[in-house]
Amino acid sequence: MKILLLLGLVAVTLAEVTRFDGGKVYRLKPKTEEHVEIIKEIGDEFQLDFWIPSKADQVTISSNVDVRVDAAYIDYINAVLQQTEIEHEILIDDLQAAIDAQVDNGRISTKAYSYEKYNSWDTIQSWMDQTVSANSNLVSRMIIGTTYEGQPMHVLKLGKQSGSSKPAIFMDCGIHAREWISPAFCQWFVKEAVSTYGTNSQMTRLLDQMDVYVLPVFNIDGYRFTWSNNRMWRKTRSKNPGSTCIGTDPNRNFNAGWCTVGASKNPCSDTYCGCKPESAVEVKAVADFLRKNKSIIKSYLTIHSYSQLLLFPYSYTTAPAPDHVELMRVAEGAAAALKSLYGTQYTCGPGAETIYLAAGGSDDWAYDLGVKYAYTFELRDTGRYGFLLPESQIKPTCQETMLAVMYIADHVLNSL
Ligand code: ARG
Ligand code: ZN
Repeated sequence: MKILLLLGLVAVTLAEVTRFDGGKVYRLKPKTEEHVEIIKEIGDEFQLDFWIPSKADQVTISSNVDVRVDAAYIDYINAVLQQTEIEHEILIDDLQAAIDAQVDNGRISTKAYSYEKYNSWDTIQSWMDQTVSANSNLVSRMIIGTTYEGQPMHVLKLGKQSGSSKPAIFMDCGIHAREWISPAFCQWFVKEAVSTYGTNSQMTRLLDQMDVYVLPVFNIDGYRFTWSNNRMWRKTRSKNPGSTCIGTDPNRNFNAGWCTVGASKNPCSDTYCGCKPESAVEVKAVADFLRKNKSIIKSYLTIHSYSQLLLFPYSYTTAPAPDHVELMRVAEGAAAALKSLYGTQYTCGPGAETIYLAAGGSDDWAYDLGVKYAYTFELRDTGRYGFLLPESQIKPTCQETMLAVMYIADHVLNSL
């Protein structure tokens, strides 16, 4: 009896973990309006998980569409693709195998910390404790809010201590839970700051003259959920009254053209904009922090993946931002710096023109608040691994991204 009970418990615990055996990621290449319509139609029917773009109504002619398909729908989608002659390729043949292969030792290690591994939230938290206590001259920490599930949202403040408040850059990682390379970059940036301050002249100048606020994981609850239950989770983990579906897309929940375009009013959608702007407590916390410090914050950087883009406002409208020319010039310089290391190519431009219209994003909101240098990075790769970028690519990705971030920081410094 005891054993049966125990087995039952184990089964319940295991059942909560979503597996993706036999799931695939397709790249569809619509070439006609009809193809576009078909993709939009099968989106709901086959429960497609849109990786790029973020939802069906953003699909356009002759842009690639990366979608995850559950094993149960593979035969159906193959039939439709064949009948309609939609060009396509398979990016990931067995998603569960790709998930298992992502961590290089084949098993997620939740304990030991490494900058070249994906770290669990618990590990990131103790890394933060250690980083702060080992570098108290350069790093301090503050809590800007609490997540829906009660986790503290710590922001690290990097910079040489000074009597008066310094101009600052704010950077966040991990708005979307499954984009694991993003938090890895914020950790890498902090490591670079504390280990090269005093020897690297660029970093020294930056941290002498400015402060850099780093939020290593924006969507902590979602990130934890990708470790414990569902590797493909994107949103927060908040309950939605009147629905059984969970979560809000934090990058559709900012008060910038909120929910007018490229976002969904359906709580079950992966781009759910929330019941009102800043309804997600995590979004409210970041927005409050930026509002409170808007006189000192000169640049807002937000790190996502994937597709190798450097985007700037606007995404909620195709109208050019007042600072379009300068933002473009800086983006192109940053992308060139990034490319100089390993040849990785980035595309630069305003979000709406470069990928798709999508309102409620943090970059647009920060920009309209008055933070001129507002950039969204979409890190590696371009779809071979997508969100499942192997750990072996953490180091090169972070190294090259450092060059772009430091290029932007230099420009911000020079324009003070
Ligand atoms: N992939 C990101 C997203 O869909 C792009 C964000 C670009 N900025 C924006 N405001 N939509 O959230
Ligand atoms: Zn994202």
